[in-house]
Amino acid sequence: MIIIARLMFLLALFLLLVTNTGQMVFAQDDNNVRDACSVTRFQSLCVQTLGHFSRTAGTSPSKWARAGVSVSIGEVKNVEAYLAQVKRQGQLKGRNSVALSDCVETFGYAIDELHKSLGVLRSLSKSKFSTQMGDLNTWISAALTDEVTCLDGFEGSKGTNVKLLQNRVQNASYITSNALALINKLATEGLGSINDP
Ligand SMILES: *[C@@H]1O[C@H](CO)[C@@H](O)[C@H](O)[C@H]1NC(C)=O
Repeated sequence: MIIIARLMFLLALFLLLVTNTGQMVFAQDDNNVRDACSVTRFQSLCVQTLGHFSRTAGTSPSKWARAGVSVSIGEVKNVEAYLAQVKRQGQLKGRNSVALSDCVETFGYAIDELHKSLGVLRSLSKSKFSTQMGDLNTWISAALTDEVTCLDGFEGSKGTNVKLLQNRVQNASYITSNALALINKLATEGLGSINDP
């Protein structure tokens, strides 16, 4: 009886230890993503979309920048596919239909610019760093402008179809804006900073 009780006690102790360590690891991950996202404009969206990079990105500005651009590419592609589908279905008419065609085009440009950016982030080097940061800033700003230009086409339009579209485009632009902030943080902190060996 006593032996069983002791075993139970040890088991309980063990479980307590395991859960606590787990919680500590999660807490550290939380801190990492919150810290990375603190420079962004849409922080809760940042934490929501980048949280799963916490373990791998840690406190590295270059890894967070890369994560930000990857997530932006994913969402911009999703939205582009959705816009193309709405266009095929021919739901929107008149001015909205013209705006939609423009969106498919500008989203295509945005994807190109974000892809080029990811390419640069994959080949960062100390000797080319300032040129690379300049290119990244140019291309991601351009991608953001493309997304906002799409939104401008629907300004003042009503209807649930349009509302849904606006929300999705806006969401993509917020995520790209966050990516740009993460790039700017990398530009400020630099490669090879204490946090980014
Ligand atoms: C915004 O984008 C994120 C990331 O892809 C997605 O999880 C979320 O559902 C999107 N929200 C809207 C309103 O489109």
